[in-house]
Order: sequence, then structure tokens, then C-alpha cells
Amino acid sequence: MQVTAGKIVVLGTGGTIAGRAASAADNVGYRAGEVAVDELLRGLPVPPGTRLHAEQVAQIDSKDMDFAVWATLAGRCAHWLAQDDVAGIVVTHGTDTMEETAYFLHCVLGPAKPVVLTGAMRPATSAAPDGPQNLADAIAVAADPQARGTCVVFAGTVHGAPDVQKVHSYRIDAFSSGDAGPLAYVEEGRLRVLRAWPGADSRAVPTLPRPAGWPRVEIVMNHAGAGRAIVDALVRDGVAGLVVAGTGNGTVNHALEAGLLEAQQHGVAVRRASRCAQGRVLPSPADRLPAAVGLSPVKARIALMLELMP
Ligand code: SIN
Repeated sequence: MQVTAGKIVVLGTGGTIAGRAASAADNVGYRAGEVAVDELLRGLPVPPGTRLHAEQVAQIDSKDMDFAVWATLAGRCAHWLAQDDVAGIVVTHGTDTMEETAYFLHCVLGPAKPVVLTGAMRPATSAAPDGPQNLADAIAVAADPQARGTCVVFAGTVHGAPDVQKVHSYRIDAFSSGDAGPLAYVEEGRLRVLRAWPGADSRAVPTLPRPAGWPRVEIVMNHAGAGRAIVDALVRDGVAGLVVAGTGNGTVNHALEAGLLEAQQHGVAVRRASRCAQGRVLPSPADRLPAAVGLSPVKARIALMLELMP
């Protein structure tokens, strides 16, 4: 018998989990971010002794996620995590950028209490929605004393923020932790832990500058025939950092590499990630562009942005 108790705060940000379609048979032609978070919670099973508090932080399609929403969300998380009676936080979120928000919160909160992101691949109006089970599972994880730090709960699986990636555009089991493997499974409201929750060297939320002042870091990709024109244009446009989604072990073709090295000489911070869905860039002493070890391009961008912040 697991001990669960306390207040769980559920912060709504939108996404397909809050999506509405004209027909219950339509799982693709819907508008994300329409149903209020307290409506999503209606009738859901909660662990014994658990009280829910819902708050709508945003109501967007997560393809439109931006620094302003991240700053507000991080602020609300920090506020609630500091309350003694709060056991954990659940964030309802669109799946498209969930891994980015999870990693951002992991870096700025590094909490001892759980912060659990979840969402859905089918809208709330679907004849067979996946959102209610994902949300019930996320609440069970947030209420479980074995859980800590930021994670994503989806299709009965708990993924760590540094590893999780959306890997499918349609299937309900859309997330993977790659070769790191999941942290745990949720089975009938119970957590089966597989490995330790990752820790974070966190930067405290109150020290974040105003979102308008966050450093601009862009992602460029290596591909057959890639050139340096995009890098040159971004440098002219005043970019502070560049992440290159390299091929294989973070490799970059000659023309693109020349542009990136020149950008680096002009003070632009450059990191090399890999466009491969799995594995990590393994650095070597001969590297002229530093590797973003263990991070996907979108997460390397967040890490670099935080590194460059005043
Ligand atoms: C979104 O990311 O907000 C839309 C797609 C989804 O939630 O699955």
C-alpha cells in the first residue's frame, strides 16, 4: 500500500488534451487549447487523501509556446512548490513542445517535489480520448512520494526531462526516453520505479531576466548540400548562440562548419548536437565546435540559452 497525501496543483497550458473537434470521430481536425483545466479534471480518480487545485496558466497550442509563457509557468511552479501542503504539480501541455518545457522546468526548478507534464494525442471531444487516463496517471505520480523532479507521464510511462522526446506524430504512445529508458511505469495508479530520477543543476526562477531579454539561440541543421548562408544571416541578425543539429556524431559539412567557426570567432556561442533520434554526441579532443553532450538540438538550445543569460 503506497502512502499518498497532500495537495496536487494542476496547471493548464492548453494542447490537444484540451482540444475540441466538431465531431467525436475526428481526432485530427480539432482546435488545441479550448477546454478549461478544471473541466479536464471533472470525475477523474484521485489517490486517497489527495486534494486538487486547478489553475489556468495559458490556453495555447504548444507549437506557439514562447518565453513569456515559460516564465509565467516557471513562476507559478516555483510559487506552488514552496507551499508546505503541496505534494506535487501536474502541468497539462500540448505534446508538440512538451519535451522542451519539461527540460526548461527541469533546469530552472530542479525541484525535490515532482513536477509532472502530461497531455494527449486525441482531443477531449474524442470518442476514445487518451487525455483522462494520462491526467489520472500524472496525478498519481505527482502524489507519489517516490517521485521527484520534472518528468513527463504519457501512455503509462514516466520519462525523465533530459531524455524524453516526442517520437510519433499520431500514435497514442508518442513519447520515448530513447536508449536511456523510462524512469518508471504507472500501473493502476501505482508507480513501478525502474531507475533514479535525474538531478538538475538548477538556475533559480527568481534569477531569470524578463523574457524579452532572454538570449536568442537558433538551431541550424546539417544535411546533404547544407551551406553557411543561414548561419551568416543569423549572425548578421545578432544571434547570441547557435546549435547545429549535426549528422551522426554531430558532424557538419565543410561549408557549414566554416560559417559556424567564423560565428564562434565573432563571439557567437556554438554547440553541436545530433539530428539522430537516439544516442548522444561523443566529444573528441580534435573538436573545434563544442558538443552538446547528451542533449537533443531543442534541449541544447535551452541549455545554451540559460548558460548565456545574464
Ligand atoms: C499541441 O502541442 O498543443 C498540439 C498537439 C498535441 O497536443 O498533441
